[in-house]
Amino acid sequence: MNIEIVEDYPALSASVAQRVIDTLTRKPNALICIAGGDTPLGVFDALVRASEEGKVDFSHATFVGLDEWLGLGKADKGSCREMVWGHFFSRLTLRDEQICFFDGLTTDPAQECRRVDRFISEHGGIDTIVLGIGMNGHIGFNEPGAAIDTECHVVDLDEVTQSVSVKYFGQARDVKQGISLGMKTILAAKSVIVMASGEKKAAIVARTLRSDIDASIPATLLKNHPQVQMLVDKPAATLL
Ligand code: GLP
Repeated sequence: MNIEIVEDYPALSASVAQRVIDTLTRKPNALICIAGGDTPLGVFDALVRASEEGKVDFSHATFVGLDEWLGLGKADKGSCREMVWGHFFSRLTLRDEQICFFDGLTTDPAQECRRVDRFISEHGGIDTIVLGIGMNGHIGFNEPGAAIDTECHVVDLDEVTQSVSVKYFGQARDVKQGISLGMKTILAAKSVIVMASGEKKAAIVARTLRSDIDASIPATLLKNHPQVQMLVDKPAATLL
């Protein structure tokens, strides 16, 4: 796993955004996946700015969601859909067919998984995926103990994930399952970027980098990818 440490969150966001822009410059119809959560919010801002300045063209790109809380929809504050739409998709001019995102309100999660898997394979796989890392090392909703050979699937959420979720929802919500791209799909992406920001992520960043591949820290499963790039700001690198 290559690691790059940058000064602060704005520098981290700019660097990750530039990698997405580079992908689209090389391949205008690339399939891009960017995590929900707090970490990529600066990337979304940087990409929207770049689009307004004519530095990137999203008109041929396609996007797929990484994960979603089962039972939450776009009207639910803190759902992945609400976050990614609010901070990114709604600020660009995109057509419906450019976006494939998990519907957390689906009554048929297995079918929803197949729909997303089909979208990814019809687009030739993910070109660039931008991931955050959970406090327990989860990637998307691939929780501790995750298998490496999964495509989209339904996940029972770890207790850490359930307690951390309050920061998105502003209140405790009874969300016990998620739906997520699996490690097989993530590892099949041509370019994998993991980003971490802030001192609160320092411990899991250090554990991920020091540990061998070990499913109890799902982020270490990314070491199976030949060129995974981890980008962290200085506060997240304090224990390295
Ligand atoms: C969340 C999401 C992930 C996200 C990770 C880190 O629970 N399921 O997609 O990347 O945990 O979140 P954050 O960036 O808010 O720390």
